[in-house]
Amino acid sequence: MSVTYQAVGWNRTKKIYDGILAAGLAVYLGLFVGVGSLVHPNATAETLLIRGLGTAALLLLHVVLCIGPLCRLDRRFLPLLYNRRHLGVTMFMLALAHGIFSIFQFHALGNLNPLVSLLVSNTRYGSLADFPFQSLGFFALLILFLMAATSHDFWLHNLTAPVWKRLHMLVYVAYALLIAHVSLGALQSETSPLLAAMLGVGLTVVTSLHLAAANIERKKDAYVAACTIDNIPEKRACVVSCGGERVAIFKYDGKISAISNVCQHQNGPLGEGKIIDGCVTCPWHGYQYLPGTGASPPPFTEKVATYRTRIYGNQVLIDPKPLPPGTQVEPSVIQDAQPV
Ligand code: HEM
Ligand code: FES
Repeated sequence: MSVTYQAVGWNRTKKIYDGILAAGLAVYLGLFVGVGSLVHPNATAETLLIRGLGTAALLLLHVVLCIGPLCRLDRRFLPLLYNRRHLGVTMFMLALAHGIFSIFQFHALGNLNPLVSLLVSNTRYGSLADFPFQSLGFFALLILFLMAATSHDFWLHNLTAPVWKRLHMLVYVAYALLIAHVSLGALQSETSPLLAAMLGVGLTVVTSLHLAAANIERKKDAYVAACTIDNIPEKRACVVSCGGERVAIFKYDGKISAISNVCQHQNGPLGEGKIIDGCVTCPWHGYQYLPGTGASPPPFTEKVATYRTRIYGNQVLIDPKPLPPGTQVEPSVIQDAQPV
């Protein structure tokens, strides 16, 4: 059995994206080495390059990690997601260059093989100040290599999506190793608080975005897809079966509200009625209910169950748990729909 794959199309958007990425990196590295040589006149070009490449790789890793949650929070970030692979591979190339330069600088002149020297020349694992932080960078680089090497769709198809996904989740292990690599390495000798502050801000941004996106997903999970906004005519309802009950989801004045489909008078189908004078009006004998509370307007006292709703894109979601009859629920505003 053989495997086939199609070459990835190199469209205009991808070219622009890559152009911006390459230009951004050239400017960053140029500035880093240029400004670095002014601020630290004694630093060698190799040291500045090692630091510039390392920080550029770590910066890009933060961007890569933030794109996923950003897209779940706001769909306008989706174009970044479609091109994230190039960002990932570029980040690996920068990290590789940083690692190779470091190995040449610190391990190439002894009798030991440089890679062996990297792993055994320092074994002070018990010391915070002298921890062998380079090994942490090495293991992170191995993970980044695995990810870059399997980033092509060819591997996605052949490893199968679940295996590929599990492999690429290792990026979080790499990230943790790198936070330790920098904290136990460069930060131990660094006198300026800038690097520590940037690392702290990066970690906070990555963690907060992931928590915010997870929170949205969790809320979304309690709800079930009911119908699309386009399916509901203005001032009328679409009727869905939810948790064994029939629910009428009304659209009116740019809002969505859901109430029980069963009229309190003689079980008439409220979802087949329409909104008249701001009230859901039963098609059988005209009993009325406010869509936001499920209660009849005073002086009447009938009440039906209400349901919580949400809107994602064009999709209306509903919490299948009915609220006690007459419970006020804020209508979902169509204009404020969450991204899908
Ligand atoms: C074989 C793998 C690696 C080796 C041998 C290595 C080595 C080093 C060394 C020696 C330093 C200290 C530089 C200095 O203080 O002047 C350093 C710092 C650093 N490394 Fe690595 N590293 C490796 C992998 C990585 C990877 C994969 C990344 C990120 C993707 C990374 C990011 C950084 C950063 C951000 C710094 C701090 C730069 C600064 O001093 O401002 N390293 N690394
Ligand atoms: S059944 Fe609804 S008004 Fe009679």
